[in-house]
Amino acid sequence: MTPINSSRRESPPVHLRLLGSAAGGGFPQWNCGCVNCNAARAGSLRHRPRTQDSLAISIDRSNWFLMNASPDIHRQIENFHGLHPRSSRHSPIAGIFLSNGDLDHCLGLLSLRESQPLTVYSTANVRRALVERNVLLRTLNRFSTQLTWRILELNSTAEVCDGLEVTTRAVPGKLPVHLDGLDTPHAEDNVGFWIRDRATEYTAAYVPNVARLEPSLLDRLAAAECIFFDGTFWSDDELIQRGLSRQRAHDMAHLTVSGPLGSLARLQHLSARRKIYTHINNTNPLLDESSPEHRSATRAGWEIGTDGMEITL
Ligand code: MLT
Ligand code: MN
Ligand code: ZN
Repeated sequence: MTPINSSRRESPPVHLRLLGSAAGGGFPQWNCGCVNCNAARAGSLRHRPRTQDSLAISIDRSNWFLMNASPDIHRQIENFHGLHPRSSRHSPIAGIFLSNGDLDHCLGLLSLRESQPLTVYSTANVRRALVERNVLLRTLNRFSTQLTWRILELNSTAEVCDGLEVTTRAVPGKLPVHLDGLDTPHAEDNVGFWIRDRATEYTAAYVPNVARLEPSLLDRLAAAECIFFDGTFWSDDELIQRGLSRQRAHDMAHLTVSGPLGSLARLQHLSARRKIYTHINNTNPLLDESSPEHRSATRAGWEIGTDGMEITL
């Protein structure tokens, strides 16, 4: 680590751009005819379509780190000039952090197979789950320097570039669906990232998948100026009510937004300047900008993440 010095204070602040703000499946979801998805398809201005959850961060607006590689990564790159190549073979993507092994957070890696060196950051467990027994990932090993994987230890801090640090913390979650019954759950399966600008000392927390709010997680969220948080489901029986699934939010390891134990109530006291829901499922009434649920969340100081939203710390 380089020591903090006075020149640091003049370095530019960290830029955050929410590339995608929907949960797995996106909004609208290809096989979903729920009220929200139909309204989005019909072009309702109150139901803005969204791609799947991913956040881009940069300190210099030249090199960008992605938090998760969504299946929509191609569209997300094309929609943001900051991620466009600046020479005949180039990518400003300096590294990709994976918060878990869920396919809505990892499938995009396979879309980046055109022989561009990539650096991926994840816990050892997330790496093992993706690399072992997965013949498709060999497409990122066409030559020995194509894929560099940096293992993130829990509670460790990586200085990803001059002035920008990312700390990895375990967050209650679950194994990816495709590993259910094949692997034993572990604290490394699901993590959040605390992104810190060393010049301003501002911290943004990115925790798109959260099953429970434990005291240690609450304390760590309280230390962040900006929070990107799991907004998957408004209520526990949201999918059941709509006749779409038998699974409850808690069966899928997602804390709800509403209810006495939900994030609206439990995170009410946080002093963060920005609180942003991301990873929002297409069934969530928050996606309807005229709904009472949208109104109650925004009145409580939350922003409902939209693709392309930018924050400067
Ligand atoms: C989740 O967030 O619960 C997962 O993305 C679900 C899935 O992989 O289908
Ligand atoms: Mn997901
Ligand atoms: Zn839907």
